[in-house]
Amino acid sequence: MEIVKLVAEIKTKISKFKSEGKTIGFVPTMGALHEGHLSLTDISVQNNDITIVSIFVNPTQFNNPEDLSTYPRTIEEDLEKLSAFKPDLIFIPEVKEIYPEPDSRIFNFGLLDQVMEGKNRPGHFNGVAQVVSRLFDIISPDNAYFGQKDFQQVAVIKQMTKDLKLSVNIVPCPIIREKDGLAMSSRNVLLSEDQRKNACKISETLFKARNLAAKLSVSQLKEWVVEEINKNIYLSVEYFEIVDDTSLEVIKDWNEPNNKVGCITVQVGKTRLIDNITF
Ligand code: PAJ
Repeated sequence: MEIVKLVAEIKTKISKFKSEGKTIGFVPTMGALHEGHLSLTDISVQNNDITIVSIFVNPTQFNNPEDLSTYPRTIEEDLEKLSAFKPDLIFIPEVKEIYPEPDSRIFNFGLLDQVMEGKNRPGHFNGVAQVVSRLFDIISPDNAYFGQKDFQQVAVIKQMTKDLKLSVNIVPCPIIREKDGLAMSSRNVLLSEDQRKNACKISETLFKARNLAAKLSVSQLKEWVVEEINKNIYLSVEYFEIVDDTSLEVIKDWNEPNNKVGCITVQVGKTRLIDNITF
């Protein structure tokens, strides 16, 4: 496992791998790694000749400066955790390597970034698209691995690769959860002990909702989820939407033929947690 910090250096290494006909798997992350990130790395290592993991806290996707400044940074522990999975290269660039000039590109994802996280975090997905397209350009991976925990992000990245006509294959990977069901997230470490104990109510409610879907209409179920979570004094639902898993259009009726996913964001003190469940 080798650490690379410079774009020029990683490009040279990648050219060599490509000339040897090796396939490249890529796992972009912002560090503060947990088993969710490690599962992506594991899947990549198993399915590619070469795996590259990037650790880069991308400033352009933070619409809230406080969120950027409090984002956990644990590089030594990250490298220790990654070494067990034997990726080939860890790319840890400085901001000026990724953005030698400020990135002024504006992407248009239509509805995909006008709902849910897109609506509540203006500019967030534009920043994600800026950094991921830049990283794809540097690394030119055959396969890139993304967690379904960030469900909307996967939809946006798929659209971006289509719009930019990139040949990378986007591989969505399952949500990894803590023992009590809470979706793993780098932000979980920001929770107080009490907040952490109560946060499992989010996934618990989503799992119950899946069972209730046969008995309640879509709007009744949405109302039930929000009320159930908001009963807990530590939790405040920002939104819960049931959407088509590709277009992200809101589902009104269970009889609609789409694949349906329920996406939620909950404010726990100052921390925003996201989760989702397929119906
Ligand atoms: P980050 O939040 O560090 O997540 C990196 C990858 O890990 C994402 O694809 C995310 O969906 C996945 N991941 C996070 N928690 C997970 C979990 N519990 N189970 C499975 N996968 C999980 O997402 C980002 O970084 C950034 O937006 C990035 C794509 C790196 C661009 O900056």
